[in-house]
Amino acid sequence: RTVAVILAGGTGTRLGLGIPKQLLKIAGKPIIEHTLAVFEAAPEIDEIIVLMATGHVPDAERIVAGAGFRKVTKVIEGGDTRNDTTRIALDAVGEGDVNILFHDAVRPLVSARIVRECVNALWSYSAVDVAIPSADTIIQVDADECITDIPVRSRLRRGQTPQAFRSGTIREAYRRAEGDSDFAATDDCGVVLRYLPGTPIKVIDGSDENIKVTHPVDVHLADKLFQLAAAQAPRLTHRGYAEELTGRTIVVFGGS
Ligand code: CTP
Repeated sequence: RTVAVILAGGTGTRLGLGIPKQLLKIAGKPIIEHTLAVFEAAPEIDEIIVLMATGHVPDAERIVAGAGFRKVTKVIEGGDTRNDTTRIALDAVGEGDVNILFHDAVRPLVSARIVRECVNALWSYSAVDVAIPSADTIIQVDADECITDIPVRSRLRRGQTPQAFRSGTIREAYRRAEGDSDFAATDDCGVVLRYLPGTPIKVIDGSDENIKVTHPVDVHLADKLFQLAAAQAPRLTHRGYAEELTGRTIVVFGGS
């Protein structure tokens, strides 16, 4: 069984809208609806659990009901931090050996190809990340904003989501993290890396479109990317590429 956990417990302070950014409409639909649609359509996904920001569970339930997403089994409140939200999700998934994909609700342009490759990689690995090369040089700074290191760019990647795990691995990593008062992480692979050292974490290719709506400019960018996908899809004759752009299978008549 493979469960997709949609992390929507944040409030989007950097976007500063007054509503959680996952509820913002882009291309006619709330961001989280676009995201859910990709997982609902993915044949590899059996069940979807949504972790929503405090006070907004009814909003998410309305979206799920309105769109008729049948794989969504639970919509519950998230936690104070992203990692707290992951912990609540792990409890909600229940016992038993399952595959779990954690995905940021605010990455609505994730593709069917990425979801498929994450699930497939779980046959060989117990932890999987999605990342892209960095076009920018990444510098490390100290508290005074002076450079302390410039790692070799060819070995650097920018992490995206989903992050996928066999349930035993991610549960054990979080169990060990619980005893650590210094615990701090911004993602889930980081928890495995730190608390289950030696566990190979496979990285699969993400995509430039799989952006995380974080700053105001990202809203415009996401909107344009959806427009581009909609405009290009009917003209495409290669099914795999159409899938990549839209996250959905497109049937093209007369295509080769
Ligand atoms: N997230 C979550 N629970 C939290 C915090 C974040 O589930 N307590 C989710 C967000 O809803 C988002 C994803 O984690 O889908 C990535 O986080 P981020 O972009 O940092 O979202 P926010 O915390 O909402 O944004 P900000 O940091 O600007 O407040």
